[in-house]
Amino acid sequence: MKEIFDNIFKDGSKIYTKNLAPGRKVYTERLVNVGGVEYREWDKTKSKLSAAVANGIKEVPIKRGTKVLYLGASTGTTVSHVSDIVEKKGIIYAVEFAKRVLKNIFPVASVRNNIVPILADARKPNEYYWVENVEVVYCDVAQPDQTRISIDNANYFKAKYIMIAIKSQSIDVTKKPDDVYKEQIEILKKNGFEIVDWVKLDPYEKDHCFIVAKRL
Ligand SMILES: C[S@@+](CC[C@H](N)C(=O)[O-])C[C@H]1O[C@@H](n2cnc3c(N)ncnc32)[C@H](O)[C@@H]1O
Repeated sequence: MKEIFDNIFKDGSKIYTKNLAPGRKVYTERLVNVGGVEYREWDKTKSKLSAAVANGIKEVPIKRGTKVLYLGASTGTTVSHVSDIVEKKGIIYAVEFAKRVLKNIFPVASVRNNIVPILADARKPNEYYWVENVEVVYCDVAQPDQTRISIDNANYFKAKYIMIAIKSQSIDVTKKPDDVYKEQIEILKKNGFEIVDWVKLDPYEKDHCFIVAKRL
């Protein structure tokens, strides 16, 4: 196991995080024990951040102790790996607007102690105004205006970094994916963020890219 980013590991072509809740799985991931430490395989086809790491993204601003506002938490697949990375000193405010989806996160959050599930619309950060300022806004809501949503949240909660998964077809099915990616990058730049790095997510996710941006 080689640590390639803070608390993110690689063995051959597989990516892993250390299991913060040993013995427990969150989805269909494989658990492996190395030297008495349990790792969870981070499925590149089920998590865009794992796909971005596999495809060579240069920086992952989520580290041990990081405070993250996660928009589009869904059932908690990626949230659970982010929870492994930030460990007990970090925290993830996990926003999801679909009640039936969010309820799947509660069993995950109850054994981890660093995930705060929030039923709210990510377009309305004032609905969760009580959240403290964070270092990173992670956005995977698959909405046409999701870059705007991530910037608004980053400004509201004073985040230094935005990490965003872009699904070209959620933004404009008539445009070439590369043109959609460029437009989203321009929106971030015009709003005071520089691009740290971005990668396409093929072959794990077709017509998706992943961007890491930093406030200037
Ligand atoms: C692509 S899925 C997220 C997958 C998840 N990030 C993962 O990797 O495990 C997008 C999620 O965003 C949620 N979503 C979409 N628009 C939203 C909004 N405006 N506010 C909050 N959640 C939203 C959807 O209900 C869906 O669960």
